[in-house]
Amino acid sequence: MIDVDSIRKDFPVYSKQPQIIYLDSAASSLKVKSMIDQVDHYYHTLGVNVHRGAYDLAYVTTKLYEDARKTVANFIHSKEEEIIFTRGTTSSLNMIAGSYRDILKPGDEIITSELEHHSSLLPWMITAQKTGAKLVYIPLTTTGRITVENFLAVLSNHTKVVALTHVSNVLGFLTPIVEITKLAHEKQAIVILDAAQSAPHMKLDVEALGVDYMAFSGHKMFGPSGVGVLFGKEALLNKLEPFEYGGEMVDEVYKDHATFKDAPLRFEAGTPVISGAIGLAAAIRYIESIGFYAMHEHTEALHQYALVKLKAVKGVTIYNQSAENPVITFNIDGIHPHDIATMLDQYHVSVRAGHHCAQLVSKFLGVSSTLRASFHIYNNRADCDTFIESIITAKNFFEGF
Ligand SMILES: Cc1ncc(COP(=O)(O)O)c(C=O)c1O
Repeated sequence: MIDVDSIRKDFPVYSKQPQIIYLDSAASSLKVKSMIDQVDHYYHTLGVNVHRGAYDLAYVTTKLYEDARKTVANFIHSKEEEIIFTRGTTSSLNMIAGSYRDILKPGDEIITSELEHHSSLLPWMITAQKTGAKLVYIPLTTTGRITVENFLAVLSNHTKVVALTHVSNVLGFLTPIVEITKLAHEKQAIVILDAAQSAPHMKLDVEALGVDYMAFSGHKMFGPSGVGVLFGKEALLNKLEPFEYGGEMVDEVYKDHATFKDAPLRFEAGTPVISGAIGLAAAIRYIESIGFYAMHEHTEALHQYALVKLKAVKGVTIYNQSAENPVITFNIDGIHPHDIATMLDQYHVSVRAGHHCAQLVSKFLGVSSTLRASFHIYNNRADCDTFIESIITAKNFFEGF
């Protein structure tokens, strides 16, 4: 069972800004002290590069960096060689979609969905435009879910790539990715999973999921911004062209050609995100010390508590009552989401308003934008109460005009 008062002591922002009611963790989580301390330790006591120096500081730094890779590998049950540190989910997904510009041919099909975040959709849209491959959308159910049945309706012998979100950042719906991946593999298609929203909330085991590539970001899981992960199956990674060329990824350089290292260094050209990787490992250790079971139990209880209260407010439309992730996406009749969000800020309540970098979801819902409240382990019932009270106050205020 989670004790929020004690959890909040682990998140220094609460001591600096005790008034905050932070309900925007789906955008970026708050940052945990043990992560900040690790990053601080690196800059204060080490601060040098990895893999290069023949001196003690470099050895210690390289060990910390490579240990961080081990921590991530254990966290998602992969091999160390399958973990590439990147700038974040966006850059991980761009790397893979970019490399398939040399592989896909006209007539090939890329299956995607209207639930994708722009960073899962746009790289493949551009790859499709450049290669002549076709983007094919899984028809969503009336509530906006991806189902295996609807996936089967678009899967074909032309399918070469399946690029899907694991959990929608707008609706919080979980994609049945294990079944989808099995079916995609029967057609020899590769599966790329955007795990930006699932990694902060559920145990990800790449062996059980079966996916070929997976991406997530540090900043949504109590870690630093500017770091993320690209997981790729070792055999696939070593067949891919490097994404970038430069220092540390090369084996042997001749005047007219060069040979490259195997993964992961093959894909980490130049100085990597050293502090980010070390910080992400500390954030993962924190998550593991709490455990996904306890995290889920807590956030799901809050989610349900807030849902019941929000449903009781007249004129509120909730788009995702059955969401697996602790996120509520809604609108209030006749009032623009940005007006509500701005007013909520006066009560120190932070929620997100807009299309959440997933315009096709708004189009699917038939609205220009929505409000989104999302919960994590540092939230409590009092946060939910203030959230609902401020919604009612804002609603009364705007309806008074
Ligand atoms: C589902 C999903 N995919 C991708 C991203 C992009 O992540 P980042 O901005 O960390 O690259 C986000 C961030 O909001 C997301 O929610």
